Amino acid sequence: MNIKIKNILSRKKKSPIVCLTAYSKNIAKILDKHCDIILVGDSMANVLYGFKNTHKITLNNIIQHTQSVRKGVKKSLLVVDMPKGTYKNKSIAKKNAKKIMKLTKCDAVKLESNKNNFDIIKALVNSNIPVMGHIGYTPQFKKIFKIEGNTEKKITKLVKEAELIEKAGAFSIVLECLAPKASKKITARIKIPTIGIGSSLNCDGQILVTDDMLGLSGFYPKFVKKYVALNRIIENAVKKYTREVKSKKFPTQKNFLNG
Ligand code: KIV
Repeated sequence: MNIKIKNILSRKKKSPIVCLTAYSKNIAKILDKHCDIILVGDSMANVLYGFKNTHKITLNNIIQHTQSVRKGVKKSLLVVDMPKGTYKNKSIAKKNAKKIMKLTKCDAVKLESNKNNFDIIKALVNSNIPVMGHIGYTPQFKKIFKIEGNTEKKITKLVKEAELIEKAGAFSIVLECLAPKASKKITARIKIPTIGIGSSLNCDGQILVTDDMLGLSGFYPKFVKKYVALNRIIENAVKKYTREVKSKKFPTQKNFLNG
């Protein structure tokens, strides 16, 4: 087993697992010093490409961005989202996951649960492709962004789903937008680590979309903590540059290329 995945598994109920998303090398290089897992998420659909959902991201989009991210990642576990439609059945999933692994040299793929695709996870794992699961709010399959697992009946279903993903061989599961009671029960019940987004402190790790926490995306639901308003910092720099170009303060002698 990949040593990085072994390390992630060993963190269950120990020290929290730190995860963020990246879509390009320069950001990945910064994250890599601090994160355990870097995810090339299909959230790039909304964040980078301005689509209203994640459905239009293609296998080629994901592969190209991961090739860039790979150049910035040395120590973290690099996980890649399989886009919608690329894991419809076992043979399509195996073909596409192998292509992602081969062309990007990533460590694992992530696929969203549609409550039915456990055999696909098993087929990938049996082909030596490590898989991260994803339950709760799953943007590829659900239209409405809302809290999941807020009744006992729904919690029971989610626990069952998580258990089946674990049984299929996944090494961890993202829990998105789960009520605290649901994430607590799932995290206690399964042996693989849970990675929460909007799912409280009850998970073994946390993930956020990097552009959200940096204040770049304009999408700030309650579960996002904005650690910096990078949009304002960038805008101030651009304003200063604009002023200096217009007033001919830039470039100065220092910036001339002599020779
Ligand atoms: O696509 C993504 O960025 C994700 C995270 C939100 C978990 O799936």
